[in-house]
Amino acid sequence: MARTVLDHEGWRLAYLESGAGHPLLWLHAFPLTADMWTPQLGQPPAGWRVIAPDLRGFGASPHPGALSIDEHAHDVLRLMDRLGLDSVVLGGLSMGGYVALAVARRAAHRLRALVLADTRSEADSPDARDARERMQRTARDAGPAAIAEIMVPRLLSASTLAEQSSVAEFVRQTIASNSSDAIVAALECLKTRPDATPSLPFITVPTLLLVGEQDAITPPAAHEALRERIPRSTLVVVPRAGHLSNLEQPELFNAAVETFIARVS
Ligand code: MLT
Repeated sequence: MARTVLDHEGWRLAYLESGAGHPLLWLHAFPLTADMWTPQLGQPPAGWRVIAPDLRGFGASPHPGALSIDEHAHDVLRLMDRLGLDSVVLGGLSMGGYVALAVARRAAHRLRALVLADTRSEADSPDARDARERMQRTARDAGPAAIAEIMVPRLLSASTLAEQSSVAEFVRQTIASNSSDAIVAALECLKTRPDATPSLPFITVPTLLLVGEQDAITPPAAHEALRERIPRSTLVVVPRAGHLSNLEQPELFNAAVETFIARVS
């Protein structure tokens, strides 16, 4: 799938797109690229235009990577401006969800609805920050292939690892295609992100929460907590999926999204 690179006064952001109609914008996880949305881009819902940017530093969006989740949110709003989109259904998985929550805090009026997948609202704990720093050292010393080796077993469920070797290989290659600098910068974003929990009751748009039942990074309990706090939210647990539920069980993921967006179009 060909990428388009927007270039506006030196600011550049790459994105993939498919379909036509109402805009549905997907934000990818760490440390992946827009390619992780291949199963969603490959089957755009009828009447929908699916857009997936490479967050800054990843894929074909150039470094310097953004240094905060809020800067990524600013990029998303700038992308919408350049594409002439007043409002979108915004979906994000994990790090993409952190960015989607930041967009909701900054510009709630630009959202028609939210999809938060395999994510959480809390900031990192001190232990989690220490782990980020260790991973930053690994990225600098051993490079992206070493990060892929660490991340693939964490990102995917045991059933995906056992039964879908092509998905594991795709994730490994996508991670390894990124630069060490991008990974280090993104870990800084993750480590310093604010607690989004206080803003959850103020999300007034319909919100779909999706989580792999075997998600070990942001487990179903984190999504129960989101469901309790976001007023118009519904939760769907995706069976036989881990953290990358959209890649591991694309039919179930896409069906849940299509049912949801049919209500908001
Ligand atoms: C992600 O998938 O984006 C990351 O696992 C997020 C995180 O580590 O907090």
